[in-house]
Amino acid sequence: MIVEAIQYAATTPVTPAQFRPFIGASVSLWSRATRCANEWAAHEENCRRFVSDTINGMRRRRTVVVLGSGLLRDVPVGALSRGFDTVVLVDLVHLASVRMWLKARRFGNVRLFHRDLAGLEDALDGKQPESLSFLRQVPYLDLVISANLLSQIGVGAERRLEQNNDTKRAEVVRKLIHAHLRDLDALPCSTILLTDASYSVLGRSGKRLESEDLLHGMPVPDADERWPWPVVPFGEQSRDYQVVHDVVAKRVLR
Ligand SMILES: C[S@@+](CC[C@H](N)C(=O)[O-])C[C@H]1O[C@@H](n2cnc3c(N)ncnc32)[C@H](O)[C@@H]1O
Repeated sequence: MIVEAIQYAATTPVTPAQFRPFIGASVSLWSRATRCANEWAAHEENCRRFVSDTINGMRRRRTVVVLGSGLLRDVPVGALSRGFDTVVLVDLVHLASVRMWLKARRFGNVRLFHRDLAGLEDALDGKQPESLSFLRQVPYLDLVISANLLSQIGVGAERRLEQNNDTKRAEVVRKLIHAHLRDLDALPCSTILLTDASYSVLGRSGKRLESEDLLHGMPVPDADERWPWPVVPFGEQSRDYQVVHDVVAKRVLR
């Protein structure tokens, strides 16, 4: 609890006011990632390897943007910093520990940006969300990585729309997920999509007790690779079940 409080207190002054409400969720993610480090290791390593393999096959490497960079656990920042002229990390929150980690490694070409990548306000106003349109202003953009962000756009929107009825909520969340996939696909540069697409609650015997589509009915993108991610291992919420997410990884080289 004390380390979480310090993390929270140290992150607050370096976070613009409109993003401070999201610090708590980031600190919770950080705590869970620390507790579940062993169980998450294979997933994180798969993500980093998938990104490294992709950049090794790229001819031009000027600017890379990472969407949902968060704790930098599933993004090989060292390889990105060495391989590209500029690395832009975008998230609602960049924790104090992440900033210190970056500073200690003297990654002089890494820039941090606070941005809401969901587009919820537009969707609620009946407009097409265009939350990736800012990428048009990024010069020499050669790669965009959506780093385990997509399902979280849905989760965050559902939380904020708790008061709305089920139909309205489902419609808006689906719109946001569709917009992210569409806009990523429309980019003129190379892209990587890393996302969990669904999850299953599994009992000790391996029996599936429940499952949920995290893409809310949107077709799962054709994956180059897939793997399981035990987001809630046995003992985290209950000794009797674990929650395993199905992760897809897709690259488009341009
Ligand atoms: C599962 S974590 C991704 C982990 C991260 N890629 C890493 O390497 O540790 C999801 C991330 O998406 C961010 N996120 C969720 N909703 C967002 C939004 N609307 N706009 C920007 N970032 C968002 C969260 O703050 C979190 O850091």
